[in-house]
Amino acid sequence: MSKFYVTGNKKLQGNVYISGSKNSALPILFMTILTKEKVIIDNVPKLTDINIALKLLLSLGSKIKYKKKIFIDTSLITIYYPPYELIKKIRASIWILAPLLTRFGKAKIFFPGGCKIGNRPIDLHIDGLIQLGAKIILNKNCIFASIKKRFQGKYIFIKKISVGATITIMSAAVLAEGLTIIDNAACEPEIIDVAKFLNTLGAKIIGAGTNKIIIFGVIQLNGGKYKITSDRIETGTFLIAAAISQGYIICHNTHPKNMYNITHKLSETGAIIKNGKNWISLDMRGKRPHSINVCTEPYPGLPTDMQALFTLLNTISIGIGKITETIFENRFMHIKELINMGAKITIKNNSAICYGIPKLSSNHVFSSDLRASAMLVLAGCIADGKTTVHHTEHLMRGYESIVKKLNNLGADIIIK
Ligand code: EPZ
Repeated sequence: MSKFYVTGNKKLQGNVYISGSKNSALPILFMTILTKEKVIIDNVPKLTDINIALKLLLSLGSKIKYKKKIFIDTSLITIYYPPYELIKKIRASIWILAPLLTRFGKAKIFFPGGCKIGNRPIDLHIDGLIQLGAKIILNKNCIFASIKKRFQGKYIFIKKISVGATITIMSAAVLAEGLTIIDNAACEPEIIDVAKFLNTLGAKIIGAGTNKIIIFGVIQLNGGKYKITSDRIETGTFLIAAAISQGYIICHNTHPKNMYNITHKLSETGAIIKNGKNWISLDMRGKRPHSINVCTEPYPGLPTDMQALFTLLNTISIGIGKITETIFENRFMHIKELINMGAKITIKNNSAICYGIPKLSSNHVFSSDLRASAMLVLAGCIADGKTTVHHTEHLMRGYESIVKKLNNLGADIIIK
């Protein structure tokens, strides 16, 4: 278990280059099982979650070369029951299920793990696969699944908007017999990225990014090359870093059009936001942000993955701001840690009321999940004194070279 020593009172400013999107790269890696031809994937971030996904593919018999780009050849895989100890480590491992079923007609996987931010059921994934023709038996912590020949295309209305279930159903439908329509689909940019990747290999998916995705099943997928989109949550994290420290930042290699929900909210705090084709800048020099009200929602609403970071922003802003979490039922674990740094926050049901104070104080704080860790490290950067952030292993799951990037912006973080 790693920890960071973070020296406070820093202004975070300068240029930062955004890495590829974790939440696009993870499903895309598992989708390579859908083709027997070689696939090259560019802009995959170097993260522990990505290493686990690659180990999962290796455990099935894939050949992988990892240089600047990742070369994956799944032509010789023979195993359809990935090991428990890898599956348990990441939530994303559920996305291996539909490709394995398509490839082998059967699969056995354990329930996935992931950040402890709520119950995180998989019923919508399972329902979708059953509707497309899979037979599924759930036994304690294990999923036994099979299909006769191919998945059968169908109209599917997903009862609750789910990024994960949309991706699972889309991946099952690409090689299904006939047409599939996914209604009430999630619209996140990562879904568009997965669809673009599959289309690059020869799939016929239209409408990704809207709530109705249409998939014409094809007989086979080919090989191909694909570049993963940039990470919008990493971009948002760095914009918040400048906003809370009265800094000025330019995020490069990012897609402003995927960031409107975040930049729009940040401009309400008084930040000056500008953008170009693949960059966004935020200027908060010389002023303290104003508190804002924030409510997390499925895209194009404000992402739940930014909730902890907006909470931090409100804790040091002028005025009172309300943060409402509507996606996950247990995503306020970081608030106790912020209170230990002096923040004034009260929780009522799924809302946190933040009474802004000028300065946080250093302390020992404990990360509970990926985004909470990023937030606590940023809190340490602006607090008075030296903060020790424990359990920073969460951070390495989702932020490439985070310490180097923050230290380049003026932070003083030492890894222990
Ligand atoms: C993805 O999780 C992301 N994970 C999460 O990012 C992100 O917070 C989340 O989408 C929402 O944007 C990855 O991409 C690996 P959901 P996912 O299915 O797919 C309920 C991060 O920090 N639900 O959209 O698991 C669920 O409980 C991570 O990078 C069901 O009820 O999220 C939640 O309330 C954390 N049944 C809601 O739907 C299901 O079968 C949305 O979850 C599936 C989900």
